[in-house]
Amino acid sequence: AEKKLLQGKKVLVTAGGTVERIDPVRYLTNDSSGKMGYAIAAQAKRMGADVVLVSGKTTERVPDGVEFVTVESALDMYEAVLSRFEQTDIVIKAAAVADYRPAEQAPQKLKKNNDELTITFVKNPDILQTLGQKKHGQFLVGFAAETERVEEYAMGKLRKKNCDLVVANDVSADGAGFGTDTNIVRIYDAQGLALQLPIMSKTDVATRILTLVASRLGSNKGA
Ligand code: C5P
Repeated sequence: AEKKLLQGKKVLVTAGGTVERIDPVRYLTNDSSGKMGYAIAAQAKRMGADVVLVSGKTTERVPDGVEFVTVESALDMYEAVLSRFEQTDIVIKAAAVADYRPAEQAPQKLKKNNDELTITFVKNPDILQTLGQKKHGQFLVGFAAETERVEEYAMGKLRKKNCDLVVANDVSADGAGFGTDTNIVRIYDAQGLALQLPIMSKTDVATRILTLVASRLGSNKGA
């Protein structure tokens, strides 16, 4: 029988891409498939945790036995996560959250009346950074999808967002990143590289991340 390393732990996972609407029929999103986050939610459940999965756009099947919350925009995700943060032990932020949203959402479909269209974007709140400021004992895991200088950017995010671990992948490498069933990750903590994994299925990556989290619970610093 599998060891239940996360028995009794409340785990919140975010996954998928956010959708930022321009008008009632058009929106901006990104290439996130949700596969990594869904694999984490499914594995956390198998490891005994109570799991909430806050999901943006994806085509993945909802894992059995998890509480499922669908959201559309980054602001929706912000509210869904913040309202549950108090009762959570571990937050794993695998979602690809839009950095910006259109300043205004047109109430009616935009018409092609002009040769050019300008849309002004405003910055979305950083959900993970907000959690990092509010945390009191919660264990925070962030993701960093990069195309260059992976370690430097991952460590920068870890410090800025006050996370306990950052899971970094080079999304330009074959077999890593968006849409694939495999991933190649390095996991960083405040001291630097904590775990380097070879190419493996996202399910196996999820198990390794969660096993590392379980081994570190209780030793993380509150804010
Ligand atoms: O977008 P960025 O590379 O900074 O994302 C790093 C981490 O921060 C990811 O875990 C992502 O889910 C999280 N994030 C967030 N809210 C945002 C942007 C990113 O929680 N607005």
